[in-house]
Amino acid sequence: MSERDGTINNNNSSPLHVAEVCHLRTTLDFDRSVGRTIGFVPTMGFLHEGHVSLIRRAAREADVVVVSIFVNPLQFAPTEDLAAYPRDLDRDTELAQEAGADLLFVPPVSQMYPEPLLTTVTVSELSARLEGESRPSHFAGVSTVVAKLFNIVGACRAYFGEKDYQQLAIVRRLARDLSCPVEIVGCPTVREPDGLAMSSRNSYLTAEERAAAPVVYQALQSGVAAVEGGERDPAAVRQTMADVIAKEPLAGLDYVAVVDADSLAVPASLSGNLRLLAAVRLGRARLIDNVGVTA
Ligand code: PAJ
Repeated sequence: MSERDGTINNNNSSPLHVAEVCHLRTTLDFDRSVGRTIGFVPTMGFLHEGHVSLIRRAAREADVVVVSIFVNPLQFAPTEDLAAYPRDLDRDTELAQEAGADLLFVPPVSQMYPEPLLTTVTVSELSARLEGESRPSHFAGVSTVVAKLFNIVGACRAYFGEKDYQQLAIVRRLARDLSCPVEIVGCPTVREPDGLAMSSRNSYLTAEERAAAPVVYQALQSGVAAVEGGERDPAAVRQTMADVIAKEPLAGLDYVAVVDADSLAVPASLSGNLRLLAAVRLGRARLIDNVGVTA
């Protein structure tokens, strides 16, 4: 947007960094009171073109765009990469501003979690399968922080990437179940030219691993080809995808799956809108990706 509080913002002005919950709330309450709509893009920072596509879309569709940058400790298991998670606030600020962000909500951990939580949010069933099997507490951490962020930001449209397809399904359900005044907008996955889905964690890849990384997308494409070629047995489609991953010596398969696009359940026979998903370990990185196909 170009106008806030009667002043004109041009592209060179910094988006306002906000660190405090009450400050963000007051600002956005004022914006809504004068009829402005809010677009919200939650992130963990180290922004790339995938995040930028969400911010751009929010800027097209809402008057005020808020981007949160918060590496949420709750969604990392003790064995995971919380301390190593890449961070670069200066670059994030520049990218977010260029993409049309008006406010960057950058709370310290003490703002989000001033005392140990006695309340957490779990979206059952949807959280248990796929990623949930490898990362049992992950989605409770995501759901809890997203519920908190929705409570802080208030009525808005919130933009999430299909890149994290299970997360998107969980957040949609959370918003419905808890009557959040938030419209969830799913946005397509942005990829590198060789098919690798953009991810902050791609920065963990060595040159050799980066060269091998497109195998994840190639495996998903082989699954699409099998379904489009008439295969209706989920196990056969999974095997096709696993075979592609197995040919790459650097890649370790965590899972490949074919599920109903809405329920995330494995159908007995493939029909309707489906989602193919894969999780693959490559050196220090664990890459996840997915694509849609209709049978
Ligand atoms: P993060 O991994 O930073 O991702 C923030 C948002 O960007 C998510 O909605 C994610 O799906 C989207 N995104 C990431 N890579 C993308 C790509 N290549 N194309 C399109 N969208 C992409 O997801 C999280 O943070 C956190 O779990 C969060 C929701 C912020 C809660 O902490």
